[in-house]
Amino acid sequence: MKVVVSIGGSVLAPDLSADRVAAYAAALESVDGAGHELGVVVGGGRTAREYIGTARELGANEIELDQLGIAATRLNARLLIAALEDNTAPTPPERYEEALGAMRRGEIPVMGGTEAGHTTDAVATALAEYVEADLLVYATSVPGVYDADPAEDPDATAYERLTADELVALVGERDLEAGINVPVDLLAAKLLQRAGVRAVVIDGTDPEAVPRAVRGDHDGTDVVPEE
Ligand code: UTP
Repeated sequence: MKVVVSIGGSVLAPDLSADRVAAYAAALESVDGAGHELGVVVGGGRTAREYIGTARELGANEIELDQLGIAATRLNARLLIAALEDNTAPTPPERYEEALGAMRRGEIPVMGGTEAGHTTDAVATALAEYVEADLLVYATSVPGVYDADPAEDPDATAYERLTADELVALVGERDLEAGINVPVDLLAAKLLQRAGVRAVVIDGTDPEAVPRAVRGDHDGTDVVPEE
């Protein structure tokens, strides 16, 4: 299969621990070793938030903040590249064409952000559309898409399965309610709806959850294209 994995910065490098990044590299290599073609996109996590917070206090505008965020995602991408063995593209591709070229050569491209105004979930979704992926894995810090905010509501439960249309509706609704955490943003959800790619939203705290999800074994939310 052709697989794209979006790894949240907060699950790849919550505290910049080398062990966690190495464990992620090993998990991705096991997907590659199982014969799948793999593309990876990495988020900015705490590093991005801290830089953005400081720059906001200094009066930076939103585009400048996004540029800092993108730089942080690329730093995290370079950490993962350092941990992967030789079968990775040596720098984070900045364009989808470069990432596809790397995949065709049997390398694992590790992208960060691309342009201001969106997140790496949107980048991963666009990459999945561009390379015609069979599966997109969103490895996040929450175990799926919930019907309510699990931090607020003890009865919140994760959906086992949603259509891409249902995901767009749900994320759109939540977008209007400040503070509600959805694991996939609206642009990513819309790109997914358009792409018609099968996706799963999983808790990526344990890197082994990624190869398990590729094998079809996960406790998160399946997001399926419309029939
Ligand atoms: P992330 O993709 O990490 O954002 O990009 P996120 O979803 O808030 O964080 P985690 O990692 O899942 O916790 C960090 C920031 O970088 C900018 C945005 O400002 C984003 O909030 N960014 C990222 C872009 O502007 N364009 C991109 O393509 C990627």
